[in-house]
Amino acid sequence: MKRIKMGCTTLSIPAMALGIMRMNQKSVLEAQVAIQAAYDAGINFIDSADIYGGGKSEEIFGQAFSQMQIKREEMFIQSKTGIVPGKRYDFSKEHILHSVDEILERMQLDYLDSLVLHRPDALMDPEEVAEAFDQLQAAGKVRFFGVSNFDTAQFKLLQSCLSQRLMFNQLQFSLKHTGMIDFGMHMNMVDKPSVDRDSQFLDYARLHKVTVQAWSPFQYGMFEGTFIDNDGFPKLNQELQKLADKYEVGKNAIAAAWILRHPANIQMLVGSMNPQHIRDSAKGAKIRLTRQEWYDLYLAAGNYLP
Ligand SMILES: NC(=O)c1ccc[n+]([C@@H]2O[C@H](COP(=O)([O-])OP(=O)(O)OC[C@H]3O[C@@H](n4cnc5c(N)ncnc54)[C@H](OP(=O)(O)O)[C@@H]3O)[C@@H](O)[C@H]2O)c1
Repeated sequence: MKRIKMGCTTLSIPAMALGIMRMNQKSVLEAQVAIQAAYDAGINFIDSADIYGGGKSEEIFGQAFSQMQIKREEMFIQSKTGIVPGKRYDFSKEHILHSVDEILERMQLDYLDSLVLHRPDALMDPEEVAEAFDQLQAAGKVRFFGVSNFDTAQFKLLQSCLSQRLMFNQLQFSLKHTGMIDFGMHMNMVDKPSVDRDSQFLDYARLHKVTVQAWSPFQYGMFEGTFIDNDGFPKLNQELQKLADKYEVGKNAIAAAWILRHPANIQMLVGSMNPQHIRDSAKGAKIRLTRQEWYDLYLAAGNYLP
């Protein structure tokens, strides 16, 4: 598995992580098979969130992982907090501290390697977040911190009050969700792709050494389904198949290779719970698409260049 530097540190992390948002739909045994398939492919990084399956994903993970042979320190385990489903976003100190205690209990862990704030809270008080982070780190409950779905200004604002450097920003990115890169190629035009949707976070991340984590790498829309083998996307699937044949892998590997080909050293969050799909996705980390292949896929996904 390709390894990348984590944020501004010299620590290395795998270029793919296993996201457990969908683990609530699996048995403990099925979860173990998925975790083992990922681990054997070099994916020793887990991404979770307190809200996944209303907490059930983390419970299943805890039951599964605690019975496996993988040592705790060999797996980087991250979770997220800050969304109270259907009610509010909540970055209050009280909520963050309480949420971490619950995450640790559900996942049967003593500490998290990383805690990520899930979605910007309009009422965020950065100094209050800083207090929560300091307290969690001092108590040995969380090693590193990050954010998710933050734009550049929100990121800078929070960072300015923290004693820790933020390591991650988790953003949606796939062949069918390319806002982060469309903008740069449609600079100063008046068409739809020229809208700056993320305030150029990808460039900021490269300049300031923040790891961008790409969520939903095989999905179109927001969890509408996968574009892989989906009749709604014939051109894209034709192109994926052509390259899958060339590199002797499946389509997941090519869709993954497309994300990892970007020079920002993105970490991709694979959400599959199917060991075959996990293994095939991991093969994408070994493929370096040519520039032409990368652009052919971008265009086959329905994008255009000025
Ligand atoms: N920060 C955020 O706001 C945010 C939001 C969403 C997700 N996330 C994170 O990102 C992770 C990944 O998200 P995701 O699960 O949406 O990503 P994904 O990996 O794009 O999608 C996984 C889904 O696609 C299906 N799939 C993948 N390859 C397939 C194939 N070849 N044929 C048929 N179905 C296929 C999987 O089914 P199988 O299980 O059958 O393979 C699964 O249902 C999550 O687990 C979570 O950790 C973060």
